[in-house]
Amino acid sequence: MLDEGLNKQEIRRILEEKLSPDYSYDSGFILGSMCTDAHKFAKSIYCKYVSKNLGDPGLFPGTQKLEDEVVAEIGELFNGIDILGSFTTGGSEANLIAMRIAKKLRPDIKDPEVVLPVSAHMSFDKAADLLDIKLRKAKLNDDFELDLNHFESLLNENTCGVVGVAGTTSLGLVDPIEEIGKLIKGKDIFFHVDAAFGGFVLPFLDKLGKQVRKWDFSVEEVDSITADPHKMGMGIIPSGGYFLRNEAIIQKTGFEIPYLAGGNFKHLHIVGTRPGGTVIAFWALMQYLGNQGFSKVVKKCMKNTEFLAANVRNIDGVKLAAEPTMNVVGITTENGQSICELDEELRKSEWMLGKFTEFNLVRVVVMPHVTEAHISRFIKDLKKVCKKLKLV
Ligand SMILES: Cc1ncc(COP(=O)(O)O)c(C=O)c1O
Repeated sequence: MLDEGLNKQEIRRILEEKLSPDYSYDSGFILGSMCTDAHKFAKSIYCKYVSKNLGDPGLFPGTQKLEDEVVAEIGELFNGIDILGSFTTGGSEANLIAMRIAKKLRPDIKDPEVVLPVSAHMSFDKAADLLDIKLRKAKLNDDFELDLNHFESLLNENTCGVVGVAGTTSLGLVDPIEEIGKLIKGKDIFFHVDAAFGGFVLPFLDKLGKQVRKWDFSVEEVDSITADPHKMGMGIIPSGGYFLRNEAIIQKTGFEIPYLAGGNFKHLHIVGTRPGGTVIAFWALMQYLGNQGFSKVVKKCMKNTEFLAANVRNIDGVKLAAEPTMNVVGITTENGQSICELDEELRKSEWMLGKFTEFNLVRVVVMPHVTEAHISRFIKDLKKVCKKLKLV
């Protein structure tokens, strides 16, 4: 550390220089991220309330009330009534919380197992590792749909939880949540839906008149949902969300921290200190945008998704891995050649996509920061790369 501090202007200059290698969302090159630039209004609110700490809610009862309000509002958006929950650091923490609950609710199972699709996010692998849970992964069919028969065959007396995904990381597809619900109906198995990405897309697709499979609390067996404001909600990073149907579970499985200045309380969090500013910012953003504002954003992303998909269909050498359900486009080679070289070549031109070797596809997430002009530039380069790699 310096002995004597620098002046603020000099520090700002150094920061600009040191951060210049970072990619910006508006460059257009970030095509494979599920995060985006937070909404301007959310940013301005966040700065004002950056010191609020929801790790000690007794000190910040106003912030806590706003969190309860925003959670209940999102719960309603997901067709639930009196839904509880809280903001997390992201989808990974929310999924970890769900997996811990699944295990805790079944102390009678010595070697707990969770059944989930092979397309589920790797945060479940992390959770399984941390919680000593065995994951049983169900296969997908050729069209990337979950193989339900295989899923069912993996259920047994050690199953404490099942997971369905509403918006897979690789392709944005929605698992058959209702059918998974039927498989566990009447069984003492916790059902978690990971809608980290889809949570702030699917409700608005529905409102735009697009056919959407049932995926939320309208499916009776669904116990909890992950949905991240910092993805399609345009909230501040980090803003994840965990939503739970049954309050008794918090009393049964929650942690307590007796020494807190604001007083003890039951909570499900892995972390202690946690931001209140991100919650307040998202509360404000929801009031500001309303249903119509979010629908508008989703509509624009879907229009750009269709633009990209139509172009990919016309490029020789590559094809869509699946028809997009939401604003995620998977691109694969027509001849089955490995996607790795294509990804590497695109990276040379600075295009940052997501690569999924297990499904042999690269993924574009058509986030709010991705414009038609960015996509046109990308398509030009994609055509060049297909020729260079002789995919044509
Ligand atoms: C479906 C799904 N779940 C969970 C996560 C993890 O979210 P986070 O990176 O916010 O922890 C992701 C990340 O992309 C995801 O796509």
